[in-house]
Amino acid sequence: MRLGLTEIRKTVAPDAALSRARPAVNRGCRAMAFSFVVAGMAVSMSLAGCDAGATAAAADAGASAARASVDSAAAVVRVAAHEVTHEVKQPAAQPATSGGGQSRGQVYEAVRQMTALGKQLFFDPSLSGSGKLACASCHSPDHAFSPANSLSVQLGGGDMHRTGMRAAPTLKYLQSVPAFAEHYHESDDEGDESVDAGPTGGLTWDGRVDRGSDQARIPLLSSFEMGSSPAKVTAAIKAAPYAGAFRAAFGEHIFDSDDATFKAVLQALETFEQTPEVFYPYTSKYDAYLAGKTQLTKAELHGLQLFNDEKKGNCASCHISQRTLDGAPPQFSDFGLIAIGVPRNRALPVNRDPRFYDLGACGPERADLEGRAEFCGIFRTPTLRNVALKKSFFHNGIYHSLEQVLHFYAERDTNPEKFYPVSKGKVQKFDDLPQRYWANLNTEPPFDRKPGDKPALNDAEIKDIVAFLNTLTDGYKTGS
Ligand code: HEC
Ligand code: HEC
Repeated sequence: MRLGLTEIRKTVAPDAALSRARPAVNRGCRAMAFSFVVAGMAVSMSLAGCDAGATAAAADAGASAARASVDSAAAVVRVAAHEVTHEVKQPAAQPATSGGGQSRGQVYEAVRQMTALGKQLFFDPSLSGSGKLACASCHSPDHAFSPANSLSVQLGGGDMHRTGMRAAPTLKYLQSVPAFAEHYHESDDEGDESVDAGPTGGLTWDGRVDRGSDQARIPLLSSFEMGSSPAKVTAAIKAAPYAGAFRAAFGEHIFDSDDATFKAVLQALETFEQTPEVFYPYTSKYDAYLAGKTQLTKAELHGLQLFNDEKKGNCASCHISQRTLDGAPPQFSDFGLIAIGVPRNRALPVNRDPRFYDLGACGPERADLEGRAEFCGIFRTPTLRNVALKKSFFHNGIYHSLEQVLHFYAERDTNPEKFYPVSKGKVQKFDDLPQRYWANLNTEPPFDRKPGDKPALNDAEIKDIVAFLNTLTDGYKTGS
């Protein structure tokens, strides 16, 4: 279980802790490591995405963010030509020379090629078993890479009628999600290193993979998503208009091995997902406000206050709204895995089986923490950047408007009958988590009440928080 407010206050410097409800795991950045094979040469490089973010918040627009990121990337580009990790049987066409010989310009060109390919792959339905489903079908660019429709879970599989158990999340701002850790400690410049922030990080709702490339494997192979295989993917790419570009990027012999092709696909997708101007531009109204370039309206400002107020929304204790100590822009998540008792979504086919539970980090999707009771019911706190573009909320997509989500936060404990089934006059609270795991549930404000108490937020306050959440959408133009 994560340390609660009270425990933190007890265990660390009591005075200092008062200003912040929880340790702020608010990382503007994560060093991103790439390694891939370019025309017979392995290239590894890392991008320092953090500087880009920090600069972006202070800068006018996304374009400068992109430039800043490219500059910081340049500083740390490292060409490791000797690290050739070819899976293709033939030797590389041009074995790397000992000096390790790619210029910065060549590395940029390689990243540019890889990004362009990743983008084509992302939008290509021919990679799927059905030929109908692309990554973009569930992750629509116009909706911050979340679904364009309001289904709780998306349709997939060979017949396009199968469903999984989870809502498709946004793919934006994933660059700062740290690798999964059972006990997360912040670095000193970001917060207090001595505090154990509990399970944190990792991709997907349960944090089960750490890299975009490993993540992309999941939907491509899943029988209820793209339902494909390395052989099918290779055949599709060989027949695609970009087959030549794929060879140019990964080497003439890339198609000789299905596994090598598949790995290259995953790398290209990961590289595309790390395009700063597309995936983490920091161009919301709130970013402009933090940079002193615009004002919030009275309602938005009031919403922000309620969002931050530890006795009202207390939202910022998990969805961090302030810059880090080193000036990086807020990610609106501390990436902690937390149980908040989201009701069972009875519309999901998997939930027709009363014995089935999606328990998040302890399974069944995630296998490595199975049987560890303290991980049951916890899901990764999502970013709230661009949340107003989403049409389904929470891991099971049960709610379809931000007002519903806010009512859940405000009234989960004061009026549980509004959210959970009532049987014979008794509310079946926390109906999607077996009772033996209830100790994992969060009980900090606004979840610190009981029936009969006043909800932490009233309707007018909820309206203002929603107005504030709408300032987190990218693409704001100063003066608009
Ligand atoms: C059928 C719909 C569907 C398709 C197609 C799909 N995804 Fe997803 N995506 C999801 C769902 C659902 C999740 C959450 C999975 C979970 O938590 O277990 C997800 C999660 C992710 C995540 C992790 C996000 C986070 O917050 O940690 C990434 C990255 C991602 N998808 C990338 C891709 C890529 C790349 C492709 C194409 C190869 C793709 N997705 C295809 C539905 C889809
Ligand atoms: C104790 C930590 C915590 C607090 C406090 C908290 N949240 Fe969350 N939030 C989460 C977690 C964890 C999830 C995902 C839960 C799930 O799906 O099971 C979430 C999900 C959400 C979502 C859905 C996002 C999506 O992409 O589906 C919204 C919107 C949201 N929170 C807004 C708020 C607001 C507004 C407040 C304050 C009233 C708040 N949260 C307070 C941890 C928290």
